[in-house]
Amino acid sequence: MMTAILGFGGFVLGALDSEHPQRSDVQEMVKAATRAATITRQLLAFSRRQVLLPSVLELNSVVSDLTRMLGTFLGADIQLSMRLDPKAGRVHADRGQLEQVIVNLAINARDAMPTGGRLALETSDVMLDSSYATRHPGVTIAPGRYAMLVLTDTGKGMDEATRLSAFEPFYTTKPVGQGTGLGLSTVYGIMKQSEGFVWLYSEPGLGTCVKLYLPSVTDPLNEVPPPETSPRRGHETVLIVEDEGTVRALAGRALQESGYTILEAPNGRAALELVRNQATPIDLVVCDVIMPEMNGREFGRLLALENPRIPVIYMSGYPGNQVIERGLMPPEAPFVEKPFTAASLGHMVRTLLDRRSPFKGDETAPLTTGLPDSNVMGLPPF
Ligand SMILES: Nc1ncnc2c1ncn2[C@@H]1O[C@H](COP(=O)(O)OP(=O)(O)OP(=O)(O)O)[C@@H](O)[C@H]1O
Ligand SMILES: [Mg+2]
Repeated sequence: MMTAILGFGGFVLGALDSEHPQRSDVQEMVKAATRAATITRQLLAFSRRQVLLPSVLELNSVVSDLTRMLGTFLGADIQLSMRLDPKAGRVHADRGQLEQVIVNLAINARDAMPTGGRLALETSDVMLDSSYATRHPGVTIAPGRYAMLVLTDTGKGMDEATRLSAFEPFYTTKPVGQGTGLGLSTVYGIMKQSEGFVWLYSEPGLGTCVKLYLPSVTDPLNEVPPPETSPRRGHETVLIVEDEGTVRALAGRALQESGYTILEAPNGRAALELVRNQATPIDLVVCDVIMPEMNGREFGRLLALENPRIPVIYMSGYPGNQVIERGLMPPEAPFVEKPFTAASLGHMVRTLLDRRSPFKGDETAPLTTGLPDSNVMGLPPF
């Protein structure tokens, strides 16, 4: 659902000029959908099923890259300040997760300052010795150097009961519909997964301070460069098999705008019929894994009997490893997680088509390397 709302919302936004009276309505819609998509991701992160791409990152650069975004959603009444110590150094973490931690904490700070205030972000490096560890029983703290990020707000703070329960999943003091209570539990889960930890200091009326510690590393930066923004175009025929009409239309539209000819089928049976009876050959299939009648894996098997040369991209709202564990798609098959963006799907389609026949694409550029998007996985090496 989120894929459809975000995708079509994006199309409408792109079509409306900045003065259009309905533009802000659509913008609000897209914002709400983004929030809903985030919540889904939080649930997945909390249950530790998310696919991670940890790399060596400069903590300061992760924080400063978020400045613009934070400024936008904090609004004009909240003053954002940053003090980034160049010595804060490097950490080994998944960038998306680290961003999620910071964003969740900043959202909490914003909610605690409904009439405005200040949010300060500071980084530094600290040395924790074994006596520090013994002073914090119940938490495993390896002595050593840590990169620290501190967020301090001037909001309403927390009473003791709230402070003690704040990290529990689904604990919220916000009205129904405004908080899921997953923000801090997600932060906790991610920090733990990254071998770091988090402390919370808060007093009613005095604001809140959250300290995050991540083990420092000295390895060279090794983040995979961000994907090129728009995928290369193509003219091939792509069949989209998906029972959800809106997602099917969205995927179709996204690929159509990149030049592809699109065929659609609501289920595996109809899709196989198209493959058999289609005058122009089908070059690639994009297929949902959970469909009534026939799941993705079964469809893939029957398709291979018809024509083993057609590559299939599987898509699902569930993480790839889960879908594979449940036998819904073949292991190691190309996979794209919903909600996907037009660009991530486009990259994946182009990459597979190029690999099948390098000279059929619009351009004669060499094969792309590297993963096209962080929510795309499962491409075996070239
Ligand atoms: N910076 C803060 N200032 C005051 N109270 C806070 C702050 N951060 C968290 N809290 C309290 O801790 C509770 C739990 O926070 P958490 O982020 O887990 O959930 P939430 O913000 O209520 O909902 P969600 O993050 O899922 O939208 C909040 O409801 C709030 O009472
Ligand atoms: Mg929150």
